[in-house]
Amino acid sequence: MSFRKDFVWGAATAAYQVEGAAYEGGKGLSIWDTACENGHFVFNGHTAKVGCDHYHRFREDVALMKKMGLKAYRFSVSWPRLMPHGTGELNPEGVRFYNDLIDALLEAGIEPYMTLFHWDYPYELFLKGGWLNPESPKWFEAYAVNIAKLFSDRVKHFITVNEPQCFIGCGLYQAVHAPFLSCPPEEALLAWHNTLKANGLATRALRANAKGSVQVGLTVATDVLMPATEADKATIVKENFTLRGDNFFSNALFTDPAVLGKYPENLASAFRANFTYDEKDMEIIKCDPDFLGLNIYHGKYITSDGKGGIRDVVPDMNVPFTDMRWPVTPESLYYGPKTYWERYHLPVYITENGVAVSEWLSADKKLHDPARIEYIRSYLEQLRRAASEGVDVRGYFYWSLMDNFEWKEGFSKRFGLVYVDYNTQERTPKDSAAYYAGIIRENGENL
Ligand code: BGC
Repeated sequence: MSFRKDFVWGAATAAYQVEGAAYEGGKGLSIWDTACENGHFVFNGHTAKVGCDHYHRFREDVALMKKMGLKAYRFSVSWPRLMPHGTGELNPEGVRFYNDLIDALLEAGIEPYMTLFHWDYPYELFLKGGWLNPESPKWFEAYAVNIAKLFSDRVKHFITVNEPQCFIGCGLYQAVHAPFLSCPPEEALLAWHNTLKANGLATRALRANAKGSVQVGLTVATDVLMPATEADKATIVKENFTLRGDNFFSNALFTDPAVLGKYPENLASAFRANFTYDEKDMEIIKCDPDFLGLNIYHGKYITSDGKGGIRDVVPDMNVPFTDMRWPVTPESLYYGPKTYWERYHLPVYITENGVAVSEWLSADKKLHDPARIEYIRSYLEQLRRAASEGVDVRGYFYWSLMDNFEWKEGFSKRFGLVYVDYNTQERTPKDSAAYYAGIIRENGENL
């Protein structure tokens, strides 16, 4: 067996990373706008005020997607563009922008996959405590009701949140993403708990207010552990879902409560936190997602330490590293989906996978990116291996459609299938775009 016949081949972006028009069209501020303005957090003082100007150039971008043969486009809605204050009134220009984008996609035969929240939290709600405020789940629920009412006549796949691991773990605990805070573990866990409640409420709100049937899932950042030896294979699912230390990226932390209705038993001790919660909250948190979105870029090999635990296996010195300094580990696209499937038995979409390469245009004005081509090829080979073993993989979204604002790295990292000149906004499809188009045409048969 190979990829399913209806396999969804797509590419992904996120609002703050591509839209630009940060102070246009009635949009409210997000915590990323204010963090960028500060000038100290992001590489070289870059800001995404203009970004890729997708807000004005989305028709050109949809035409590029069509040329590539993309079946789906995963994008996010900027919460403060749709609701400038986070709660209350809608912004008609924001509504129009997303309506136009959706219509342009459908006209091009491309299915919209809409993420509700990809990190650009409304600044006004942040000032009220953001995810720490007990009302925050309700704010997100009200936003989800609007999304369902406005867009579910045409959008049939929704992703509630993208990577709580990053916006809570990196944003509120490790201070490496906006709002660049390092709260004590009790508070970070409270924000996590509120995010889980928000996710539960939004999942129900999308279903209850949708026009017609919709699929609602969530997307997590993964921490894929891979077996270094034959013997380690037997325990790899268990090891992948064991919480060790104060690790917000631990695989069990979000999906266990959302899918199974329970936290890892050692939650409080692992975080050395005095954390308690109302057991009744689990009724909200457990929300039976229709699918899991997995973002997988790399994994690490582990082996038994002989004492009931595990240890990392230092990668062999030939292992290449990407421009993000992430190891190239194709098997993570096998073990990631496989272990999630074996734990939850939910359909899986790879909602992000891709590579940043240090690259620039050649004299022929083209962008030759053999490393990205080999990255895609070798990772997809492993995804196909998972599919052929019965893992229910429904789709793959390359990250990213085009080069864009890579958070605190600014514009210094290029992940795109399309090269963007940030001075002229000229788009140049890279060699990998043509390669990916071929994969889509052949449904991944000849990798
Ligand atoms: C995020 C993207 C980001 C990508 C590469 C993911 O964690 O969802 O927004 O650009 O990884 O770092």
